[in-house]
Amino acid sequence: MEQREVLFTYKAIQPEELPGIDQDLIQSAISACQYAYAPYSNFKVGAAIRTDDHLIILGSNQENSAYPIGQCAERVALYALAHQHGRKVIDTIAVAVENEHQHTPASPCGSCRQLLSEYRSYQTQPIRLLLTLATGGDVYEIRDVNDLLPLAFDGKFLGVE
Ligand code: THU
Repeated sequence: MEQREVLFTYKAIQPEELPGIDQDLIQSAISACQYAYAPYSNFKVGAAIRTDDHLIILGSNQENSAYPIGQCAERVALYALAHQHGRKVIDTIAVAVENEHQHTPASPCGSCRQLLSEYRSYQTQPIRLLLTLATGGDVYEIRDVNDLLPLAFDGKFLGVE
């Protein structure tokens, strides 16, 4: 038997400690919360993607009375990027949450982790995440989306590199 271990670490950073370019991305994610349609959960989420050529694409969660067809902010932003600009290298994604009961940044759901992993597989460089509350406070920095989904199922299982 061989026991294998995957170590997950992330940083809790004060926003002022981040470079201006990241602070701006966080502000974009916070402002994207205003477009969230979340009458059922009242949990508004905004996402802002920065590509390596400094394009910024936004998304927000879009709910529906038929709950499962609702979309997360990360997914809306990733699909908007892909549809409008094709496959670009993603540098960082900021995700902001606006909800009075939430006191720490939220992290992407399982489905979004799978989708992030798909986009990550197109590129060699990591996709960094910055998670924040819309009201400020510590930002959680995750080095690479792959860290959130160890032993991910990916195209290699289906013969696609
Ligand atoms: N949600 C997101 O948009 N992103 C996340 O990372 C977590 C959850 C949305 C989905 C739903 O509209 C609401 O938040 C509550 O689950």
